[in-house]
Amino acid sequence: MSDQPTSFSAPKGTRDILPPESWRRLRVVDVAREIFGRAGYAPVETPVFEHTEIFERGVGEATEVVSKQMYTFTDSAGRSLTLRPEATAGLVRAVLENRLDKGPLPIKLMYWGPMFRQERPQKGRYREFAQIDIEVMGSDLPAVDAEVIELGARFLAACGVDCTLLLNSIGHLDDSCRLGYLAALVAYLRAHEGELAVEDRARIDANPLRTFDSKEAPTIEVMRGAPAITDHLCTSCAEHFASVRALLDDVGVDYVIEPKLVRGLDYYTRTAFEFVSDALGAQSTVLGGGRYDGLAEVLGGSHLPAIGFALGVDRLLLASKELEEWSPRLVDVYVVAVGSRAARASLALVTELRRAGIGADFDLMGRGMKAQMRGADRSRARWAAIVGDDELQAGEVTLRDMGSGDQERIAGDQLLDRVRTKES
Ligand code: HAM
Repeated sequence: MSDQPTSFSAPKGTRDILPPESWRRLRVVDVAREIFGRAGYAPVETPVFEHTEIFERGVGEATEVVSKQMYTFTDSAGRSLTLRPEATAGLVRAVLENRLDKGPLPIKLMYWGPMFRQERPQKGRYREFAQIDIEVMGSDLPAVDAEVIELGARFLAACGVDCTLLLNSIGHLDDSCRLGYLAALVAYLRAHEGELAVEDRARIDANPLRTFDSKEAPTIEVMRGAPAITDHLCTSCAEHFASVRALLDDVGVDYVIEPKLVRGLDYYTRTAFEFVSDALGAQSTVLGGGRYDGLAEVLGGSHLPAIGFALGVDRLLLASKELEEWSPRLVDVYVVAVGSRAARASLALVTELRRAGIGADFDLMGRGMKAQMRGADRSRARWAAIVGDDELQAGEVTLRDMGSGDQERIAGDQLLDRVRTKES
């Protein structure tokens, strides 16, 4: 018989999300739903796994994400499937497959859920992590870029995250624009090939833009002197970028132009942006996004200019002091029962409160009064409703304000009104 493990741990790079963090994550989704929903974005859900080709073609085979980090498996029918490393390619696939692009434009979508990347785990970097995403498809107007970026800034501010917005344009794939720039970049990289980290040399041919993503010190040094895409934009991309900046100025969103910001995924065109936080150490990007005007065509659709972003929920929570201290107050009344008759009556009392829409909880461990009061404290209830034989006999309840410690005896049939009026 093989050795049976006596205990298990979660796979490397994954973690269990326990209370109170689990509450905070729901809170983040609530804030997102509120802010993005009120700006016209509708929720969608797509599968956690997709055909591998969606990512190979959509995100790009030369990217780190696709070449090194995907969880790919073959199913019993021999299909190659991949746990999604990001949401955008799958969302575009869903839009095309469901012909949303043939309906009213633009399509404004929001999404949240788990993503999977086999990266080296560290603070703020996991193999399973959650993203919240928004995407707008169908318009290339600079106003869309500004709307999306402003929503990102507002969302982060609402979550108490202090961030800097880095902004760039990486042009579109045209001889007069990015292709011209790539030729200049390749020439520069060739001239410095010997100084690049060995593992980055192959990128000169495979995908020169990706040399900007390198974590290798010698390559980072070489890239400091590399030509900037912003100096090579064609007139229409330069004008588009200028309009995006002017609109961000109009709505008071501060940004820093970062000509070396190229983002790690191949589908990006024109506007690229990241919100970075000092609170995070090496994994400083809380939110990243950009335009991807050519992705729908790469995935077999017609031209569908689009822009969006994803924010890492795990990183957001690490970066937010405000949310670190946040936990919900959901139990209004904690019922404390003293004596067996009262214990028996407490379920009925809790149920009556719950039916009236009041958050209520009580002891389910048969504990004594002191321990029940500690339970009331832990539940963060505003009130303890103490019921003993005495109170039962008289049809009364002792209502204790958990904040001030004041308590008074009231008629049982007044309890609902009292916790309601005192609440407001
Ligand atoms: P991304 O920059 O690859 O973009 O990821 C967006 C965010 O997800 C990052 O800024 C980070 O907060 C979080 N993130 C990424 N990898 C990890 C990880 N291993 N652990 C924890 N958090 C992580 C995208 O995914 C694009 N789909 C964004 C987009 C949407 N672009 C256009 N629309």
